[in-house]
Amino acid sequence: MSKTATIEIDGKRYEFPIIKGSENEEAIDIKKLRDLTGIITLDPGYKNSGSCTSKITFLDGELGILRYRGYSIEDLAEKADFLEVSFLLIFGELPTAAQLEQFEVDIRKYTLVNEEMKSIIDGFPRTAHPMGVLAALTSALTAFNPKSVNVDNDKEMYQAVCKTMGKFLVIATWTYRKSMGYPLNYYDNTKGYVENFMDLMFKLPTEPYKANPIVIDALDKLFILHADHEQNCSTSTVRMVGSSHAGLFASISAGVSALWGPLHGGANQAVLEMLEEIHKNGGDTDAYMAKAKDKEDPFRLMGFGHRVYKSFDPRAQIIKKAANEVLETLGVDDPILAIAKKLEAAALEDEYFKSRNLYPNVDFYSGIIYRALGIPTDMFTVMFAIGRLPGWIAQWKEMRENKEPIGRPRQVYTGANLRDFKKPE
Ligand code: SDX
Repeated sequence: MSKTATIEIDGKRYEFPIIKGSENEEAIDIKKLRDLTGIITLDPGYKNSGSCTSKITFLDGELGILRYRGYSIEDLAEKADFLEVSFLLIFGELPTAAQLEQFEVDIRKYTLVNEEMKSIIDGFPRTAHPMGVLAALTSALTAFNPKSVNVDNDKEMYQAVCKTMGKFLVIATWTYRKSMGYPLNYYDNTKGYVENFMDLMFKLPTEPYKANPIVIDALDKLFILHADHEQNCSTSTVRMVGSSHAGLFASISAGVSALWGPLHGGANQAVLEMLEEIHKNGGDTDAYMAKAKDKEDPFRLMGFGHRVYKSFDPRAQIIKKAANEVLETLGVDDPILAIAKKLEAAALEDEYFKSRNLYPNVDFYSGIIYRALGIPTDMFTVMFAIGRLPGWIAQWKEMRENKEPIGRPRQVYTGANLRDFKKPE
């Protein structure tokens, strides 16, 4: 006998089924609520509302668990590479060696971006924020790949997946090259995906360039750690836009815009700017803790807190360990890392943060590694987007394969009642 929830309204009782997920999460299925009662629910920020069922990623915020298709993030970060994890998220299983090789071959078919896209990027000022340029270029990919708009079969879906994986990486690095006034590089199909990222970003025509393997490994791990995170703000945006049957590029472009916000993916840039400001002001972390706790002050401790994780963000723990290793291996002595650790230690002892379950999230330490790897601060959120791309694709694909209805939430109207039209004096 499955569990039910009873709601009593005006003396009348209504029963709704309680569904249980594969990790024993439970939800009241209210699909029939308005039909039966004429009443809707209200949940700003969807803190208590599930938008879908999904087989892709499982989070347990109390236990600090993150799994992609059942594999722990700790195992994947340690034992897999980014393209393997991308295949796992998108197609549901870890690839065999042959499948992984074929996936990379198929991605390489689409790594050449239409030359006319360069005239679009030329229209931006060099000072444009890379996330705004990336959102525009991603949407523009639709114009040059119209067949990737309506994917109605597995073959078209697979082609759209490979095109997105191939072209997004290239245009993401073009945002940096544009800001530096450098020529735009091309993907080299004889090299790996993450090694190509480094070449696309930093290779100049005037001198030889070979990316440091330590940097490539660190980036590969960082991309894995950012690859998916169930129904976060940007992923929900990708699913919402895709639910109208807008194409994959247009949906990903919307996800890039949502990720840009400083409360979401933009936090990794905001964390570094905050830590640099603390460093510039003499490292007085207490003053910034006080600002973060002051309700009159809009300042928040960037990189702290999370909608779901109320114990710790497992990604932050892995990244913090990697930050120590990468900086030590590269011989980088960055005072910002010491400030970050001092801030974390203070916050973990502070009643305000403890009582609100505020811990470092994925964005708190990632920027310190990016900086040590030579990535400029305003490219940090682009790094997040490159990592999150397979997750966005996987979630969009699942939404379309499940034939989910167009997303269209209700509201509670609190505005003016009917009034006669009378022009103000
Ligand atoms: C990401 O959802 C995901 O999965 C996202 C992500 C992913 O992988 O996709 O994990 C990536 O976006 C991580 C989060 C990056 N953002 C930041 O680091 C920005 C700083 N953090 C916050 O703004 C905040 O913690 C959020 C946005 C992350 C979560 O906000 P919630 O869940 O809406 O919580 P809330 O705003 O209701 O805060 C609860 C309380 C409030 O105080 P009270 O009203 O109870 O007194 O905690 C306070 C908040 O003021 N609070 C903070 C704080 N975060 C929450 N106070 C100071 N500093 C902070 N960082």
